[in-house]
Amino acid sequence: MPRFVQFEEFGSRDYLQVVERERPWPGPGQILVRVMAAGLNPMDIKAYRAEGAAARMGVTLPSGIGQDFAGFVEELGEGVTRFELGQAVLGTAPFASIADFVVVPEDGQVIAKPDPLTFEVAGSLGVVGRTAVATVRSIDLHERDTVLVSAAAGGVGVLAAQLAVRSGATVIGTAGEENHEFLESLGIIPVAYGEGLADRVRELIDDDHVTAALDNHGEETIQAALELGVPIERVNSIAVFGAAAHGAKNVGGRAAGNDDLAELADLLAENELVLPIDSIYPIERTAEAYGRLEAGHVRGKVVVVTD
Ligand SMILES: NC(=O)c1ccc[n+]([C@@H]2O[C@H](COP(=O)([O-])OP(=O)(O)OC[C@H]3O[C@@H](n4cnc5c(N)ncnc54)[C@H](OP(=O)(O)O)[C@@H]3O)[C@@H](O)[C@H]2O)c1
Repeated sequence: MPRFVQFEEFGSRDYLQVVERERPWPGPGQILVRVMAAGLNPMDIKAYRAEGAAARMGVTLPSGIGQDFAGFVEELGEGVTRFELGQAVLGTAPFASIADFVVVPEDGQVIAKPDPLTFEVAGSLGVVGRTAVATVRSIDLHERDTVLVSAAAGGVGVLAAQLAVRSGATVIGTAGEENHEFLESLGIIPVAYGEGLADRVRELIDDDHVTAALDNHGEETIQAALELGVPIERVNSIAVFGAAAHGAKNVGGRAAGNDDLAELADLLAENELVLPIDSIYPIERTAEAYGRLEAGHVRGKVVVVTD
């Protein structure tokens, strides 16, 4: 029987259960995808931990878990024209993707998977890919910019920082010591997060100015950006709820579409960008996989696979 990961109570990852259920069927305009890999996102954690956060995301019990997936088209619903049987695809199915099968509308958040992309990378791309594109676009980077990017080795940060490098800007990325060499290999200047961040950034850039900031972790980056003289309208945060209260932007993944995601997937397939896979878990160990994400220091993505 096909497996599906769900939770029936809020509180912790301990409530995630792998259950068996009938194979779903696609309705008109929908496709059934046999999921090979599904990346995990912090929003899943927020949803299974607390009813309030879950309600804001439209989650009710019992709920599936996982947003992103990659796999093969297994069945076509009536009238489907954009996809064919057996085609490899990637996409997003909110709170349903950690499963053997997922049903998505053909005109939803699903695109063809470029051949060279592994299922692990493709299945991790939906949320972080759209978000990285949208956040970088929100601050309109140019060669003369120096941008501070927080959590630059994390899922969103590692893509956003590389896109910022591609824009020609000088990119400073916050990370733990163990990720500094990795960031340097991507053309990103690493800096430790934590108290004194603005001073450490100043030391790195001599007389130059930081002109923009992308916050992927919390208040600290916004404060540091302000201390460094970044105009608030060139600060975007995806991590501070109500960042707009500071005047900062709050542009997230919803501001990017399927074309943006396809462009990003092609860049990854051409090795122009990398999305590191931190770790891979079988679907039976989904709760453990979330434990790894909860620990807060993943490089790239944690992925659950079905085979
Ligand atoms: N609004 C949206 O559309 C949207 C979309 C996606 C995500 N988000 C939110 O954006 C945030 C980032 O998502 P993500 O998927 O990139 O998360 P993630 O992959 O779990 O981020 C992990 C990274 O966080 C870094 N980190 C840990 N402690 C830190 C600290 N004190 N200061 C700075 N960085 C620290 C780690 O760095 P080291 O390993 O180097 O220590 C690690 O690389 C989450 O809050 C998520 O909910 C929002």
